[in-house]
Amino acid sequence: MTQGPGNLQTIESHILELQSLHPGASGDFTGLLNDITLAARIIGREVTKAGLVDILGATGEKNVQGEVVQKLDDYANGVFMNCLGRRGQVCILGSEEMADPVYVPVSQGSGRYVVIFDPLDGSSNIDANVSVGTIFGIWKRRSERTHVGEQDLLQPGRDLVAAGYIVYGSSTMFVYSAGHGVHGFTLDPGIGEFLLSHEDIKTPFNGHVYSVNEGYAGHWPPEVRQVVETLKTGRPGRDGGMSGRYIGSLVADFHRNLLYGGTYLYPPTGSMPRGKLRLTCEAAPLAFIAEQAGGYASDGQGPILDITPTDLHMRVPLYIGSREDVLWIEKCLSESCGKL
Ligand code: AHG
Ligand code: MN
Ligand code: MN
Repeated sequence: MTQGPGNLQTIESHILELQSLHPGASGDFTGLLNDITLAARIIGREVTKAGLVDILGATGEKNVQGEVVQKLDDYANGVFMNCLGRRGQVCILGSEEMADPVYVPVSQGSGRYVVIFDPLDGSSNIDANVSVGTIFGIWKRRSERTHVGEQDLLQPGRDLVAAGYIVYGSSTMFVYSAGHGVHGFTLDPGIGEFLLSHEDIKTPFNGHVYSVNEGYAGHWPPEVRQVVETLKTGRPGRDGGMSGRYIGSLVADFHRNLLYGGTYLYPPTGSMPRGKLRLTCEAAPLAFIAEQAGGYASDGQGPILDITPTDLHMRVPLYIGSREDVLWIEKCLSESCGKL
């Protein structure tokens, strides 16, 4: 996996190679992915400076709430909005940070792609210098250019043409899939380039880690409590129980589990009967990555990728990671762990 000095590849050239797999491609998709890598670099730069805001002073800008320093998730949202859709590749932009999607008017070059993103995931961790991320999904427009609407915005994860995430951690990493495996790139800050560091990532079939906010255990449905208890104490036929790891940044938890094996869970709670995470900008893009890497994602009943959203901000319970473990959880939720 490690690249020797004579074997370096930038993300731009990797994306260009993708284009050659689709003869006749217009280059719009390539341009769009490249725009996202630019947004990632800009957000990454700002995230690394986050801890300096208090000592170096404010930027002087005021936002609509009159706050002097812009919240980083608003900033990241603005960066995505500015970097994407400027060159006529995009018809709709949807964001966790915006109540309504933005439709690009035909007169301004409405394009062929729909992009939905979570500009800054895990943002409550930012002040503690803990990893945060960005998640994005790209779908193709289904309708005629002049009739773009909800049928284009609300598509299942199964129809994603590409998805990915950026993790701003000990390094900044860009992980994406356009349906030909999952590839990871690490930012070399000196040259400002993402270099291929993890080619064709495959996630372990089962893992030794479960990631969940156990503080909510008292608010989970009994079958979820039973699942987590069984993961901890040991599934029948398994050598001991699993270890726990929970950062509270979905991207970071997911990324670690993708590389080492493990399962992330965000079950329903009493006050959030559909859990907390969003289908379009969090669960579906990561489910696409998980499946491309040999893993699996479920809402507890079936594949996340098969769910058609009814709303841009629709929430969904999420069980995602190593394939065999998530399939077991799915079964256990509908039957009983004891019988499996
Ligand atoms: P966001 O910062 O985009 O709102 O997402 C936060 C999400 C996710 O990243 C994380 O795994 C989860 O919220 C943590 O929630 P709890 O604090 O409820 O565990
Ligand atoms: Mn999020
Ligand atoms: Mn967010």
